[in-house]
This record gives sequence, C-alpha cells and structure tokens, in this order.
Amino acid sequence: MSRRKLVAGNWKMNGLVASLAEFDRISAGAAAVSGADALICPPATLIAALAGRGLALGGQDCHAKPSGAHTGDLSAEMLRDAGASAVVLGHSERRADHGETDAQVRAKAEAAKRAGLLAIVCVGETLEQREAGQAVAVVGSQLAGSLPEGATAAEVVVAYEPVWAIGTGRAATPEDVREIHAALRAALVGRFGAEGENFRILYGGSVKPANAAELFAVPNVDGALVGGASLTAAEFLPILQAAA
Ligand code: PGA
Repeated sequence: MSRRKLVAGNWKMNGLVASLAEFDRISAGAAAVSGADALICPPATLIAALAGRGLALGGQDCHAKPSGAHTGDLSAEMLRDAGASAVVLGHSERRADHGETDAQVRAKAEAAKRAGLLAIVCVGETLEQREAGQAVAVVGSQLAGSLPEGATAAEVVVAYEPVWAIGTGRAATPEDVREIHAALRAALVGRFGAEGENFRILYGGSVKPANAAELFAVPNVDGALVGGASLTAAEFLPILQAAA
C-alpha cells in the first residue's frame, strides 16, 4: 500500500502580515519537492493574503454550521472561500482550551466535507492517560467518535498527536508511534473496510528536521503535523524533504 505522505504545518496563533515573506520561502522550497504533499495552516486572518502564492492552505478549526449568529466563529465555507483546501479539527489545544468533544469534531468534519475541505482530524492521549496504560484505548475512542460515517481517505486525514509531545521537544519514540499508528490503522480497516488502508495517518508532536526521517520510516506513518518547526523554511523544508 503506497500512500503519498503529507506534511502539514500548523502555525497555531502565530503569523502576521510580516510573515508573508517567510511563507513565500516555504512555498518556493516546497514547489521543488515533488514526492510529498505540503500544506500550511496559518491563522485564518492570513489565508486570503496567502492564497494563490503557491502552497496549499488550511484552517485550524471551523464551526459545524455554514453561516449564522455565531460571533467569532468561522465556517468551513468561509475558509474555502478565503482559499483554504483543508482544515485541522479536534486539535488537543482546541479540545483543552475550548472543551471540544468528539461529537463536535465529527460535526465539524461533516462541515468540512460539505465545503469541500480535507479534514485533518486529531487524536492523542495525555501523559496521565499514557502512564495509566490507556493510550490505545483513548485514541481509539477519539477516532471512533470524531470520524463521520462513511468517511473516505480523500476527505479525511487522521493525525496522532500525543499531548505530552506537543511543543515539548519530546517527540514520541518510533516504538510508541508504531504501536499507536498500527492500532489506528486496524480501527480504520475495522470500520471502513478496504478503504481504511487508504487513509493517511500523520504523526505530530515535536517533529523536527533531526527526527523526521526516523518517524517517517515507521509503518503507517504517512506524514506529519508540524507546529513550531513549520514557522520557518529552514526547519519546515528539511522535514518535507524527508517525507519525499
Ligand atoms: P509541535 O506542535 O510540532 O510544536 O510540537 C505539533 C502540533 O500541535 O500540531
């Protein structure tokens, strides 16, 4: 089974108009890499300004509804209209900061499909859950609750992001990643049959140029969701090259 790798950068709450030059450096470097897909998810305020500058763009969240009285929220249709082709959903920071539930993430994934956006659906256990031996059960339950019925690999990408590895400089070991990605693959095949083999499963959490190649060599790792190291071309491009 060959799945084309995806390296998605998540800028989180970072990026001003002054960041356009760095984006252009990332975009120019990514254009020279043909063996893997690249995507940057800037803050939504920059999507329209970055659209058409070469690199695919994603949002970092969306509302489940297409429009309406929801002050401060953005719909999947708005992200699409601004120039996005994807959206990160259910990131652990959204789950922690805004109490997002699996059911809400699933409704957002349905909205992404409605708007024609690729949904990057995140799952991941906390350190406490890992230490209690619950990592596989937690991510399995998040996956089951967060993916829409009848989801396809063309519409949804899964991202495994252990909470304890995000922004800590402490990536999961290849062995930890192998175990979880194998469990996620088995769950996808169990639910979606042969189509389950086609879903890309990204790893996220302190992915850097120095550890990207060993993480990409793990079975069922089909790319990365990169936070801090996606902010500069100097760090993002070697990760993308390692995936190609
Ligand atoms: P990090 O973030 O690469 O800075 O650890 C990953 C993420 O939260 O997507």
